Amino acid sequence: MSDPATLLIADDDPGLRQSLERTLTREGYRVILASDGNAALERLQAGGVDLVLTDLKMPGLSGIELLRAVKAIASEVDVILLTAFGTVEEAVKAMKEGAYDFLTKPFQRAQLLRLIRQALERRDLIQQNRALQQRLDDLLQQGAVIGSSPAFRRMMTLLEQVAGSSATVLVQGESGTGKELVARTIHARSARSRGPFVAVNCAALPETLLESELFGYEKGAFTGAAGRKEGRFELADGGTLFLDEVSDLSAVTQPKILRVLQEGEFERLGGTKTLRVDVRIVAATNQGLAQMVREKRFREDLYYRLNVITMTVPPLRERSEDIRVLAQHFLRVYAAKNNRRLEGFTDDAIRRLEAYAWPGNVRELENVIERGVVLTPGALMDMTDLPPEIAGATPLPEGVLSIRIGTPLAEVEARLLEETLRATKGNKTLTAKLLGIDPTTVLRKLKRQDEQGEGDAAS
Ligand SMILES: Nc1ncnc2c1ncn2[C@@H]1O[C@H](COP(=O)(O)OP(=O)(O)OP(=O)(O)O)[C@@H](O)[C@H]1O
Ligand SMILES: [Mg+2]
Repeated sequence: MSDPATLLIADDDPGLRQSLERTLTREGYRVILASDGNAALERLQAGGVDLVLTDLKMPGLSGIELLRAVKAIASEVDVILLTAFGTVEEAVKAMKEGAYDFLTKPFQRAQLLRLIRQALERRDLIQQNRALQQRLDDLLQQGAVIGSSPAFRRMMTLLEQVAGSSATVLVQGESGTGKELVARTIHARSARSRGPFVAVNCAALPETLLESELFGYEKGAFTGAAGRKEGRFELADGGTLFLDEVSDLSAVTQPKILRVLQEGEFERLGGTKTLRVDVRIVAATNQGLAQMVREKRFREDLYYRLNVITMTVPPLRERSEDIRVLAQHFLRVYAAKNNRRLEGFTDDAIRRLEAYAWPGNVRELENVIERGVVLTPGALMDMTDLPPEIAGATPLPEGVLSIRIGTPLAEVEARLLEETLRATKGNKTLTAKLLGIDPTTVLRKLKRQDEQGEGDAAS
């Protein structure tokens, strides 16, 4: 058997405490006694408690209040209530607030032991489940940023450099390109990774609600503000606050955000005390913010504060090499999640995936693969398992590059060089020969592209 479980018992009746301690210690449990709710709470905060048994009526903190506190600070710890005859109504109320069960005094020893065993078993199962989920996520690299194209690698180089600083980052890119994933990865690779990552979608809430979410409020700040609430800025203290769809911030909210960025301080709604927080901001937008500034729809000063470093996540159609690796990644993830044995794709399917323009970017690809995993009858996902708009995409013959009319020449040159290098498996001499240029020119161009990738960091 593993370590004995630790039970915390709160009851103001010394006789009952002692008899419970005797019974439960004999059963092999570690027992901690508390004579009232406050003492129990203090002990709980120290950690290591597996289960709480508490009296309902105690001086100081009542059983229900203790239950609420347990659920707030250690939600995985179950609470069993010991209630006196005649307090069943309160016990029922406690059940609604998340108590595991209740026992009416006087109770039978066997009854008590059974309940404790069940509660602990349930807790074990939940913990095992969590650990398995975590392992699955690790195995599948859920949350990993996948890609192999030069454009992707340049972005990741910049990301590593940026993550190390505390600078504000503005992540730009079309919908579904992976802006939120980039923001999470910046946090995960920063010195703040142990701190919280808090996300707020600025487009999802009306102005007043958004402000109370961001800054919190004091009791009575507005009708319905029954208690004090901490805002997301406070919750993100020591970590990263992700302001998603920042272009949707209203003209009223923009200066308030600016103030936090400039001074690091703010007040809760209806509050007078100035609060200071240490928060790194990462903002995202799929709108051209610079354009919005020119049209006076977004404050210029806020734009410059947010835009200390810009990261642009390229659309998927501009990095078609990533399609294959991403598709394989999502296939593994969703096959495991759906308990399906799928090995990969037919060549036809891959060609169609690579030929499609992906207006919804990586999110669209992820959805298509998730759907395909469910529909594919065999071990390989085929063209026919893809939605018609993709199955019908005209595949490019092997060795052909498609370039949109109006693409800047420098970009055309860079892509042609990249694709030729890929086709020659990185052979620079052969690449130079095919392109009719000198090998040193190939090296020079590659070096310049790398530098340009890094140069974005300073802009
Ligand atoms: N490079 C990548 N590797 C692995 N998964 C990715 C990658 N890029 C995006 N994804 C996945 O694609 C989905 C969409 O990404 P995300 O939510 O970050 O996009 P977004 O740019 O924030 O989109 P929107 O503008 O619609 O909010 C997510 O499930 C994300 O995990
Ligand atoms: Mg997003």
